[in-house]
Amino acid sequence: MANEVLVSLDIGTSQIKVVIGEITEDRLNIIGVGTAKSKGIKKGGIVDIDKAVQSIRAAIESAERMIDMQIHSVIIGYNGNQVELLPCQGIVAVPNDDKEINDEDVLRVIDNAKVISYPPDREFLDLVIKQFIVDGLAGINDPRGMIGVRLEMEGTIMTSSRTMIHNTTKCVERANLDIQDQVLQPLAAGSIALSEDEKELGVALIDIGGGTTTVSIFDDGQLKGTRVIPIGGENITKDISYGLKTSFEEAEQIKIKHGYGYFPDANEEEQFEVKAIGTEDISTFNQKDLSDIIEARLEEVFVLVAKEISKYGYRDLPGGFVLTGGTMLMPGALELARDLYQGNVRVAVPDYIGVREPQYTPGVGILKFAYDNAKIQGKPLRDAVSDQAQYEERPVKKDKLKQPKQQKSTKPKKSKDENKESGVAKLFKVFFD
Ligand SMILES: Nc1ncnc2c1ncn2[C@@H]1O[C@H](COP(=O)(O)OP(=O)(O)OP(=O)(O)O)[C@@H](O)[C@H]1O
Ligand SMILES: [Mg+2]
Repeated sequence: MANEVLVSLDIGTSQIKVVIGEITEDRLNIIGVGTAKSKGIKKGGIVDIDKAVQSIRAAIESAERMIDMQIHSVIIGYNGNQVELLPCQGIVAVPNDDKEINDEDVLRVIDNAKVISYPPDREFLDLVIKQFIVDGLAGINDPRGMIGVRLEMEGTIMTSSRTMIHNTTKCVERANLDIQDQVLQPLAAGSIALSEDEKELGVALIDIGGGTTTVSIFDDGQLKGTRVIPIGGENITKDISYGLKTSFEEAEQIKIKHGYGYFPDANEEEQFEVKAIGTEDISTFNQKDLSDIIEARLEEVFVLVAKEISKYGYRDLPGGFVLTGGTMLMPGALELARDLYQGNVRVAVPDYIGVREPQYTPGVGILKFAYDNAKIQGKPLRDAVSDQAQYEERPVKKDKLKQPKQQKSTKPKKSKDENKESGVAKLFKVFFD
């Protein structure tokens, strides 16, 4: 597996992100990125296949321009929405006991572990291996080259909703891309955002994106669970748009230019003008006014995250809280989280040139995770790109598909008084009630 080029696809609510990585001598280097504004995606789910296909193509083409190659296959990342984790076990006899265990035996034991019946609305998403056992000897990471008569495997199977997998697969295929592999984004993000120690001790990985916040808990080195909360950075933008009576687009720009997530540190001197929607009236606001709106929504997100964590029965996470996702670009958001969680809190960004921003954590993680997983499982990964010249135009396929029902977006608003309620007090309630 030397010098392969792999491409990940993160279909986010705000942005489609395509990351191109090259594996050289077992090391990942990022060689290109492409992004496009998402259309047809709400709260992390595809609600309009045609629009989603166009957005995926736009992101792929922007990545292709960067490396001047044609992308023909991708590794898809699935967010934790409706994902279930099931423990699985496989067992096979090694045909010839003086023969070493090889790739084929490993693939057979994995296939054996996959033989689980799922309810009709669920579909296989991915499998991760916890350990191999050779003739009763447990704790083996890679059994190849060992001698034994009985090979066992223990791991976790991830399943997702059949509709979600179907819609995503359709979109990617209609964007004229082959699906090289599919992985669970929280696991993928965890592979680059978390240390082995954090995963052993117990840690929460919190990805605050545009339409969703994904909370994933790792403990004893394993992913224990993942939940998707349907609130993200777009809700902050909507709140600003209502609060300052301006359009969503202008509110988004104001958020990015002047936004501050921690009210006590916001700067009253930083002032900006806003044109009220439908009129010529111009009003002046300062960063404190803006932070008042932003902090309230961020605080709500952090409180909901704490509630999800407590549902898993965790009262203490010695590995702390690791925050990522585009919304963590907001200055002051980390300070607010530190104030609320009172524990070790940090922001994770991929440590690779060209993608050092938190919205790329899942996309980069997908590449590392899929490569490592393929290596353990002995699955071949093919080069995902080829020279432009070798490929003819690959237009978007035109077949019409039935659209899934539009999801209702939630728009909880808070009163001014609620906004100023102490976050620490709220969190205390969540954890210890
Ligand atoms: N400088 C910034 N300050 C604050 N927020 C930002 C900044 N830059 C981007 N964002 C916000 O980050 C969000 C997008 O993040 P990200 O790309 O991680 O989401 P996504 O993956 O598209 O969505 P999801 O994961 O919810 O499906 C948007 O709401 C955007 O407004
Ligand atoms: Mg995302």
